[in-house]
Amino acid sequence: MGNEPLKVAAGRAVRKVIVLYNCDYDPVPPPPGVAGRDRSEVARAAFDVRDAITNFGFQAEILGVEGRDIAQCVETVRRLSPDLVFNLTESLAQDSTNEIVMPAVLEMLGIPYTGSGSMALGLCLHKPKAKDILRSRGVPTPASCTVERAKDAAGVDLPYPLFVKLSREDASVGIKDENVVWNRRALVKRVRALLDEFEQPVLIERYVEGREVYVTLLGNDPLVPLPFHEIDFSLMPSGRPKIVSYAAKWDESSPEYAGTTPVPVRDLPESWRQSIERTAIAAFRALELRDYGRVDFRVADDGTPYVIDVNPNCDISPGAGVARAARAAGMSFPQLIGRICEIAWERHLHAHQKARAA
Ligand SMILES: Nc1ncnc2c1ncn2[C@@H]1O[C@H](COP(=O)(O)OP(=O)(O)O)[C@@H](O)[C@H]1O
Ligand SMILES: [Mg+2]
Repeated sequence: MGNEPLKVAAGRAVRKVIVLYNCDYDPVPPPPGVAGRDRSEVARAAFDVRDAITNFGFQAEILGVEGRDIAQCVETVRRLSPDLVFNLTESLAQDSTNEIVMPAVLEMLGIPYTGSGSMALGLCLHKPKAKDILRSRGVPTPASCTVERAKDAAGVDLPYPLFVKLSREDASVGIKDENVVWNRRALVKRVRALLDEFEQPVLIERYVEGREVYVTLLGNDPLVPLPFHEIDFSLMPSGRPKIVSYAAKWDESSPEYAGTTPVPVRDLPESWRQSIERTAIAAFRALELRDYGRVDFRVADDGTPYVIDVNPNCDISPGAGVARAARAAGMSFPQLIGRICEIAWERHLHAHQKARAA
C-alpha cells in the first residue's frame, strides 16, 4: 500500500490533510472513577495520526480547536482550506455532546472529512434512541428501559440480573461493579447514585453474561470487518463481575485493568462468527456510521450476539482497538490511517458524482 490509490481515486491529488482535534482540556484532569476521562488523550492521537499520514506520503498538519469561539474556529478551518480533514474532535468547550458540531460545520463548508456525520455521532451518544433503531431493524440488543427518577426504577419489569448505565456517555464513565444488580433494592440505589452524580437519564438493561466481543469495521461499500477481539476476563479477581468498568479501562494499576485484557478471538463456532459479523454490519448500517467504527457485543450462551454499544469515530490511537484489529489483519498504523483517508475521499467523490448525475 502506498500513496497512489488515494491519488487515483481522487482524480486529483490530495495535497493537504488537516488533523482536527479538540483541545478543550479540563483545567484539572478528573481522578479515575470520578468523572469523565482526561480530554488531552486526543492530542496524543492527533500527533500520531499526523505522523502516520506523513508516513503514508501526504502532507499533514494538526489543528486543535477549543470550541468556545466557534466563529473563529470556522474561520480558521476555512482559511486553511484543506483537501481533507481527519476529524478527531470528541468534544468542544468541554462538552462531549458538541462532538456533532465539527462534522456539521465541515459539511456546510463543503470540506470532505473522515468518519461519521453528526447524525450518527449524536445517535450513538444517545443509547436509548440508538437501541430503538437497532430493534426496529431486528438487530439484537438487550431488553431495556430508561428512567429519569429513582422511584421509577422500582417499577421496572425486567428479569434480574440487570445492568445499569448512563444513557449519554461512553468510555465506561459511571460504570463499576455496583452497576450489575440482582434485586430491586440494589437497582434503585445505583440508579439514584447515577442520577445524582451525572444528571442524565439512566438506561437499565438485561445483563448478558457471556463473551464480550469487539468488531472493528472499515469502509462503506464494501464494509469490511477486521479480525475480532474479545475481553479475556481470566485474571479478574474471583467474585467480581466480568465487565469493563471505568477503572478497568483507565486505571492501569487496578486489578480490573489486569482482568480485562483484549485478545484475539479464538475457538468461536463458525456459525457464531458469521452471525456476529452480519449483526455488526447491520448495526453499522442501521445507525449510518461511515468509514470506520466498532460494534461491541455480549454473546449469550445460545450464541445470540447482543449489541451493547456502537462506537462511531472510535479511538484511533496506536494502542487502541481499531489499530489492534488492523494489525491482526496485517496493516501497519500508517497503512490504517492512510486507508481511512482513502475511504473517506472515495466516499466524498462518490457522493459528488451522484449529485452531479442527478
Ligand atoms: N447489557 C450488558 N450486559 C453485560 N455487560 C454489559 C452490558 N452493557 C454494558 N456492559 C459492560 O459495561 C461495559 C461498558 O458498557 P458500554 O455499553 O460499552 O458503555 P460505554 O459506552 O461507556 O463503553 C461493557 O464493556 C461491558 O463490559
Ligand atoms: Mg463500550
